[in-house]
Amino acid sequence: MRGLFFCILTLLILGTVLTAFVWNFFSDRTNVHPGSPPHKAPIRNSVPDPSGTCKGCRDTVTEKVVERYSHSWRKQEDNFTKFRSLLRDKCHGVTKAMVTQANTPLGSKVVYDGEKRKPLQVTPELFSTFAKENPFVNTTWDTCSVVGNGGILANSSCGEKIDSAQFVIRCNLPPLENGYKRDVGNKTDLVTANPSILMEKYGGLQGRRRPFVESLRSYGDSLMLLPAFSYGHNTPVSLRALYTIQDFDSPSRPVFFNPEYLQSLAVFWRGQGLQTVRLSTGLIVASLALELCANVHLYGFWPFNQHPHRHQPLTNHYYDNRQSKKTVHSMPAEFDHLLRLHSQGVLRIHLGECVPAASPGCSTEMAWAPASFSGLSLQAGSLGSAMATLAQRKTTSQTQKPWAGPDTNVSGPSGLGQGATEDPTQGSDSEQRTKQRRGNRR
Ligand SMILES: *[C@@H]1O[C@H](CO)[C@@H](O)[C@H](O)[C@H]1NC(C)=O
Ligand SMILES: *[C@@H]1O[C@H](CO)[C@@H](O)[C@H](O)[C@H]1NC(C)=O
Ligand SMILES: *[C@@H]1O[C@H](CO)[C@@H](O)[C@H](O)[C@H]1NC(C)=O
Ligand SMILES: *[C@@H]1O[C@H](CO)[C@@H](O)[C@H](O)[C@H]1NC(C)=O
Ligand SMILES: *[C@@H]1O[C@H](CO)[C@@H](O)[C@H](O)[C@H]1NC(C)=O
Repeated sequence: MRGLFFCILTLLILGTVLTAFVWNFFSDRTNVHPGSPPHKAPIRNSVPDPSGTCKGCRDTVTEKVVERYSHSWRKQEDNFTKFRSLLRDKCHGVTKAMVTQANTPLGSKVVYDGEKRKPLQVTPELFSTFAKENPFVNTTWDTCSVVGNGGILANSSCGEKIDSAQFVIRCNLPPLENGYKRDVGNKTDLVTANPSILMEKYGGLQGRRRPFVESLRSYGDSLMLLPAFSYGHNTPVSLRALYTIQDFDSPSRPVFFNPEYLQSLAVFWRGQGLQTVRLSTGLIVASLALELCANVHLYGFWPFNQHPHRHQPLTNHYYDNRQSKKTVHSMPAEFDHLLRLHSQGVLRIHLGECVPAASPGCSTEMAWAPASFSGLSLQAGSLGSAMATLAQRKTTSQTQKPWAGPDTNVSGPSGLGQGATEDPTQGSDSEQRTKQRRGNRR
């Protein structure tokens, strides 16, 4: 008995040391996502320390995940309704998330949410690019999947589950073909597109544009949401994307994020205690989903480079391991807020593997048996196992299988991550906004 006690004590101490190590080791790479505000980010008096934005939560987030996530999830109608009303009152995503001809009249000025001092006059030409009507009016969906691009989705087998939602939201034109379908699905109703990716992958659409149009095929006739009015340099490239889609008769439906909406969301989340320079796309679309959908499921949102349960290293995205340079987002801090909503039954985060519907009886094994103790020496992350094991012991009576097993009803494995979510605001040619607007139809 005493032996066991010492053993546990030792593990706890080792665990603490290892946690510190893990966080220090990984944290530099985790919360970084590209999305550089152009030159100087608006410096507010309390710009958070990029690596430690989530002061105090770094040490506890793993613990929280293990603890909170290991309870079976149930939607709490009251909490959901309350949160949704709050969000709707403050942000009006249903009517305001996108720029439309109704909410942004001819002759008015668009104020960039990231660059407020240079408003843009709505000329007839610009006005004609706005959506005629709001695509969300009088529409709500029962179930929505919001798919982050986190490495945690790799080998998750969650594609079918993701696609089973009525409305599927994806971030930043993620690849869906070449074998990813099994893990991430391919149904898409709304997809965001950062100007940064248009610049990097498609030459800012200044040269050949067909490759871009072809890459959009996998998103069918989904809405493509562009942050055209976050920074001045986003506008020309976003307009080129829209013109390209029109000129090539692509079924894709480009629409622009409304900077007023993004601004109100930033204020909303600041009011919730989130400190960050810019909200990530992932949090933005998750917030939008909470206004539009009765049941919000998040996949691919997990901001750390190590699997929460299996502890193997994760790539930054499910499709690559590209690291980002700048640290304007605070993924761990955002995650902490989302996890709180998960715990309150407002939305559901999926972190485990999904079991294909075809074989519901075949649940995977619990992987955090004491065997993983032996892993202490090899991977920093084994600490998680130790903690998990302890947590598991505490909760065995509940017979939950938090990380394993079918993600059908019991509890929730499937995949929350957040590599999704680069800053909606990047782009990079600040030059010649005006000149380009129309000049580049070809
Ligand atoms: C969420 O719901 C539970 C039970 O319905 C309640 O105890 C809890 O206080 C609620 N949380 C919030 C933040 O409203
Ligand atoms: C939306 O609903 C409102 C009130 O329920 C109604 O007046 C309006 O015509 C509807 N709009 C559309 C486009 O269906
Ligand atoms: C996914 O599984 C394949 C085959 O089992 C393996 O080669 C690959 O490394 C795995 N990828 C990740 C990110 O775990
Ligand atoms: C998704 O995949 C299915 C089957 O592979 C295919 O039939 C369908 O066209 C794909 N959807 C899109 C939008 O590409
Ligand atoms: C899961 O819950 C839904 C709705 O509560 C129910 O219709 C479905 O049969 C359940 N599935 C399983 C596998 O229990």
